[in-house]
Amino acid sequence: MRKTLFLFAVLAFASCKKEEVKKEPLYPTTTEEVAQTPEELGEEIFKGKGNCVACHQVDKKVIGPSLQDIAKIYKDKNASIVTFLKGEGEPIVDPSQYEVMKTNFAVTKAMSDDELKALEAYVYSNLK
Ligand code: HEC
Repeated sequence: MRKTLFLFAVLAFASCKKEEVKKEPLYPTTTEEVAQTPEELGEEIFKGKGNCVACHQVDKKVIGPSLQDIAKIYKDKNASIVTFLKGEGEPIVDPSQYEVMKTNFAVTKAMSDDELKALEAYVYSNLK
């Protein structure tokens, strides 16, 4: 009996742990996730499953424009990053490189509006 209890405890612990590590909190389902701000969620997606960080950095151009440049141009033009990421907008930052960015629409089109808004909030949080 003792052994069974112990095993149960270990299993319960292991399954908790796994969830903590593996679960991508993309939808606010628990209180902890609700407490996450859109910027925080956006940053998580940006660096996580969106893998935007492979081509975008905060303050310098790498493959794609810096987040500071994107935020500034979108603010100046009062444009929507969400619309752009849905593949429904026009490139306004660096249209000559649009084909490179376009390959990501397969990923961003599969995201929920909340996730896209979170990405937008994160980009804007880097506004200088
Ligand atoms: C393979 C490299 C690459 C990845 C990965 C990538 N981008 Fe880009 N991105 C670019 C390039 C190059 C541009 C410049 C072309 C352009 O302006 O459309 C760009 C431009 C942009 C723009 C400005 C679009 C405009 O109006 O001109 C936004 C916003 C953006 N990326 C967001 C993201 C987000 C969010 C992700 C992650 C889901 C992401 N990018 C992933 C390369 C990438």
